[in-house]
Amino acid sequence: PSPIVLDSDPGIDDALALQYLLGTGLWDLKAYTSVGGNLPAEQTYLNARALARAMRIDADVPVHRGAGRPLTRLPYTSASAFHGKAGLGNETLPDSTAAHPTGSSAQALLRLSREYEGELTVCATGPLTNVAIALLEDPAFAHRVKKFVFMGGAAHVPGNITPVAEFNIWADPDAAEVVVSSGIPFTMVDLDASLRWLFRPADLAVLEAAGAGTALAARLLRVYMDAYRLHGGGDACPLHDPLAVGVCADESFITAAEGAVIVESASELTRGKTVFAPAGAHRVYYADSPTLTARLSITGRVALGPGPRDFVK
Ligand code: BDR
Ligand code: CA
Repeated sequence: PSPIVLDSDPGIDDALALQYLLGTGLWDLKAYTSVGGNLPAEQTYLNARALARAMRIDADVPVHRGAGRPLTRLPYTSASAFHGKAGLGNETLPDSTAAHPTGSSAQALLRLSREYEGELTVCATGPLTNVAIALLEDPAFAHRVKKFVFMGGAAHVPGNITPVAEFNIWADPDAAEVVVSSGIPFTMVDLDASLRWLFRPADLAVLEAAGAGTALAARLLRVYMDAYRLHGGGDACPLHDPLAVGVCADESFITAAEGAVIVESASELTRGKTVFAPAGAHRVYYADSPTLTARLSITGRVALGPGPRDFVK
């Protein structure tokens, strides 16, 4: 198994992402780092601890506390309308009794990037605050990480928190901008792909019949599906965060293109919008703007839609 860190704001689909990651058997989870997002940082930390206990990993996997607020903005509104009041549907899971380290999520990311230089995969399924703090403290973090996959952004489809922005990027656009312009080898798993990785009532029926090991996931998915139904998402819910975990192991979960991402952070109206410039084309678009051309020379992979693989079935 390869070393990985899951940086998350649990969150229902974040919880599913953790279970999926553990279930693949492909990864050696070195830390579960929480970040504020779906709920404030204190709550996502508690949720991460409780999930680590529920999935019986808390004796071996340290859980870390994320930054208390976004990089430069005021704390954002939470997403409890989708994830439940405390972030995990209707669950009240017992806290972990293991002794978790006091170091922050960003410190854990930095430490592990040194310990597993060139080997470490980082998967982020919440706002990019922790990763940006790590990069600001030590820009070489970008080059020690083997692969960085994050769920966030909406390059070619409307947003889900504003007409143009996806929640994770909107919640901390300044952090996202630090990350995509850092040179870290990233794959952005955005709404273009995740909104088409749908979990449907028939899938839920299979999960509910599967037994004790999937009971928590099934309960969480029932709540998530109801929330999407209530908010106009139809009779299905997207598996945003598990998709990012899938992409860590196998890029064929998405179709992707190489290019640069710029995050809009100056305007409140379009805050957190992700602008995608396909590789090569930017010299034409931005020929007169030395700053933009320089930023655009940093490229990553961006999802353009779902791939041929389907992990729901
Ligand atoms: C993202 O926002 C959060 O609510 C989900 O957990 C996911 O990471 C989707 O926009
Ligand atoms: Ca999330």
